Amino acid sequence: MSQMKILFVSPEVSPLVRTGGLGDVVGSLPHALKKEGLDVRIVCPLHQSCMRLTRALYPKPISIRLGKKTYSFSVSSTKLGDSDILVYFLGNDSLFDRNGIYSNESGNFQDNALRAFALSKAAIELEKSINWQPDIFHAHDWMAAPTCAFLNQKKKRLKRKVASVLTIHNLEHQGIFSYDDFKDSGLPLSYWGIDGFEHNGALNLLKGGIQHADKLTTVSPTYADEIKTTSFGQGLEKSLIYRAADLIGILNGIDEDAWDPENDDAILQKLTIDSPSKGKKACKQALQEELGLNKVENVPLYGVVSRLYQQKGLDLLLGIMPDLLLKKNCQFAILGSGAPEEENAFRQFAENHPTQVASYIGFDDGLARRIFAGSDFFLMPSRFEPCGLSQQYALRYGSIPIARKTGGLADTITPVESKSKLANGFLFDRSHPQNLAEVINKSLVLYQDQTAFFNTRKNAMHSSFSWGAAAQQYINTYKWALEKKDQ
Ligand code: GLC
Repeated sequence: MSQMKILFVSPEVSPLVRTGGLGDVVGSLPHALKKEGLDVRIVCPLHQSCMRLTRALYPKPISIRLGKKTYSFSVSSTKLGDSDILVYFLGNDSLFDRNGIYSNESGNFQDNALRAFALSKAAIELEKSINWQPDIFHAHDWMAAPTCAFLNQKKKRLKRKVASVLTIHNLEHQGIFSYDDFKDSGLPLSYWGIDGFEHNGALNLLKGGIQHADKLTTVSPTYADEIKTTSFGQGLEKSLIYRAADLIGILNGIDEDAWDPENDDAILQKLTIDSPSKGKKACKQALQEELGLNKVENVPLYGVVSRLYQQKGLDLLLGIMPDLLLKKNCQFAILGSGAPEEENAFRQFAENHPTQVASYIGFDDGLARRIFAGSDFFLMPSRFEPCGLSQQYALRYGSIPIARKTGGLADTITPVESKSKLANGFLFDRSHPQNLAEVINKSLVLYQDQTAFFNTRKNAMHSSFSWGAAAQQYINTYKWALEKKDQ
């Protein structure tokens, strides 16, 4: 086959526009696919924040029909980072010129279903403007999920082999709307119903994508298993079981150039992966100083870099902090924002114990890096975690992760308890404060045993999650999706 052509369809792409991990993946996986010889490009709405980017405008706009209305889109492009990977933007002021991707201060945009249909259908029609025809439409999450359905609707008229792949980054976000919103899509009524977009009487965009995609992926093998159960399926487990033969988990990699402790200007002293002790010591001291913590060497410092909401399970930590602060000699550096109750609780701990706890409410990329580099342990008690990138950054920067045994956390952390030579962290099972307390106790024991602690840290820093392996699996998935068309 000649060079495979892949079009990513996504509402976010780092570093141009992002709210989280989805953007990071869409912004970094294409580089790895390109290295393997694929022609990969990305299409994304022209959000207000992207308007200031230098872009090349294409002479031909595209127009699509959704229900009774016609929408037209300007098409422009820019390059991803310093690569020559093209990112296409679909410009439509009434739909995308907003101060936010999904929401603003007043909440979610009312017309998000329409915006998702518009992005998805325009992505299918993009080839009319750019004179380039994808073999694979690779849709990411609920906002792009309808791409798979629009492709099926159009497939009979296309005179080439073409297929869709849908990647689920987080099943919690499904894009749930009403039947009236479905009517805006202009899709035939046969696309509604149990084998289409309908779920419990409502419009569910992710479910429509799950039913219509040729192949499905999610971002870790463990999460791929978990989401077929009622505990993790978020109500969509039956659809996922139905599609199980076409669903695989591919562990996300990280951008190893952007997250390189040997070459990171945000941290005080570069860390040498093979002999990190000196650098770690300096980074810890600098972090203690920056955050006003006691400058002591032999007290373990626990880092948190997270959004503060239910999924991330930091309420478990809040539950045991009073006891830890009273009975154990340890320090905490917390960076995050989210639910006001959690923000306030962490703030309060910092106020009451300023030399032991530092809380920075907000987001600061540089501080995040200094926490990864300066902490001894990294806490990630997520209730569920499709993949998780932070534990991978922490590992690389020599902060030993302590995480719940779920999703990508289970796939990236080999517990000390397993006695494996590759042990690089701690895992706990039950989402309960007591279980987190127990595993933190185990980390305190490890900290007392210098040799074991240093070995675990070295293993952590040598754990490798480059995109290379994942890229190979995506390529196999694309081929698999196209094969299906031969039947
Ligand atoms: C979502 C998930 C996270 C995953 C990321 C990228 O943000 O919650 O676990 O790492 O997507 O796939």
